[in-house]
Amino acid sequence: MHNPVLVDETLFWLDVKNGGIYVDCTLGNGGHTKAIFKKANVSKVYGIDRDAEALSRFEIENKKLKIIGGNFRSLSGIIKEKVDGILFDIGVSSEQLDSPERGFSYRFDAPLDFRMDRSCGVPCFELLEEFSQDELELIIKNYGEEHRGKKIAAEIIKNKPKTTGELVEIIRRITPYKGRSRVLARVFQALRIFINEELECLGEGLYEATKILKKGGRVCVISYHSLEDRIVKHYFREEPNLNVLTKRPICPNESEVSRNPRARSAKLRCAEKQ
Ligand SMILES: C[S@@+](CC[C@H](N)C(=O)[O-])C[C@H]1O[C@@H](n2cnc3c(N)ncnc32)[C@H](O)[C@@H]1O
Repeated sequence: MHNPVLVDETLFWLDVKNGGIYVDCTLGNGGHTKAIFKKANVSKVYGIDRDAEALSRFEIENKKLKIIGGNFRSLSGIIKEKVDGILFDIGVSSEQLDSPERGFSYRFDAPLDFRMDRSCGVPCFELLEEFSQDELELIIKNYGEEHRGKKIAAEIIKNKPKTTGELVEIIRRITPYKGRSRVLARVFQALRIFINEELECLGEGLYEATKILKKGGRVCVISYHSLEDRIVKHYFREEPNLNVLTKRPICPNESEVSRNPRARSAKLRCAEKQ
């Protein structure tokens, strides 16, 4: 079960109020959306997710919730009215990470796919057929911030893994036991970010969000690693129509992290449309 992160802080910074219209761009398991409905008598929440499997499991009965399968990078094409608040809680959900067959986690063996939306694009193992070693090295270094990218890329290109288990085995052979799980996490993160174009989507999603916000409306972003947080920080600072409300990112307190260790790297930033 996905535990929503920084819920009270998100409700506070989104300034959720009666009659408001909100967009949850990353509906997932609906934790934040449920909290929005609980906080105020809002007039509507649009819940978007690119993962059709996440939406098919979704269980909130509420006439004010409009569930939409889609990518938030096309937000202004999906939502045709101005809104009071927009939330991005980016990355993968616990359901996605913990579903063995989705192949997002190095803990389970599954086809090497990594797509959040399996109705478009191609699985990772097919792309690996086309990559040069240099391209793969750049992906691992840039999106995984892993300095052993050269060696890892060379082994992946040589062995062409088709499953997460085969990829884990390749990395296991060339990395020392100490610190191996961190290397695995970084390589998996790098391939997932690349396959889903996560950083491009985030940049485009923020631009789109600015277009559909009412004057005085707010956008909140919860990110989980420095690459994402940097994009949010710079976008908020440089977009002339936004006023940054959180000078520093809001992080979960110790009690939240002890209840939900996946919250530990979360950072929330908020800006208001002027
Ligand atoms: C961290 S989870 C969100 C969890 C949610 N806030 C909750 O409380 O259950 C991120 C979700 O965003 C979705 N997602 C990621 N990138 C997306 C994109 N570009 N467009 C739409 N949904 C996206 C993922 O499929 C995943 O379900």
